[in-house]
Amino acid sequence: MQQPVRIAPSILSADFAKLGEEVRAIDAAGADYIHIDVMDGHFVPNITIGPAVVKALRPHSAKTFDAHLMIAPADPYLEAFAEAGADIISVHPEAGPHLHRTLQTIRGLGRKAGVVLNPATPIAAVEPVMDLVDLILVMSVNPGFGGQSFIDSQVPKIERLRALIDATGRTIDLEVDGGVNAQTARRCIDAGADVLVAGSATFAGGPDAYADNIRRLRGAC
Ligand code: DX5
Ligand code: ZN
Repeated sequence: MQQPVRIAPSILSADFAKLGEEVRAIDAAGADYIHIDVMDGHFVPNITIGPAVVKALRPHSAKTFDAHLMIAPADPYLEAFAEAGADIISVHPEAGPHLHRTLQTIRGLGRKAGVVLNPATPIAAVEPVMDLVDLILVMSVNPGFGGQSFIDSQVPKIERLRALIDATGRTIDLEVDGGVNAQTARRCIDAGADVLVAGSATFAGGPDAYADNIRRLRGAC
């Protein structure tokens, strides 16, 4: 069942020179999850945040830390991200080699496990592990950078995943990431999404605008 919509600002669009302050600001502005984009310059063509930064940010917010790992391999770093304070740890099936084992490991660490589907990754990649996932993340841009345009072809994929999730009877977040703004948010929610990641749309205009920006995204609900 579609849950109430939660907003997950991606700190990729924050001012990296004052990340702690930025996390406090989006927390106060009404963020539900703090979305943390982890990139390795190998799985995706960009390098961002590691476990040490996640650990340093942990005292700045009690909200859910939603770690999106765009790294390959991911397995050697799962424990470090769990210990750093990530509440949800999501991986791409392409990060390999054994998605089922990776999800078991994340859950064994006492964290929620997510699977991320790139625009060209079929739903079939997550179907055999539905019993192990707490979150499915649909990428509505190719991973690696903020500020890209929403890829329309992902909307029917969200609809199909909503039906698949409902058929399990389990509580599984259906999250969308990339090019989400007030307009595209509406389409994602109508298709069945219940967590919206937004980088540029949250951080546009600086700290004074964060609360309004989040309200506008919520207004799409
Ligand atoms: C892209 C990241 C996204 C990104 C979204 O690889 O996974 O979380 O920060 O940025 P916007 O909302 O600007 O498209
Ligand atoms: Zn992300």
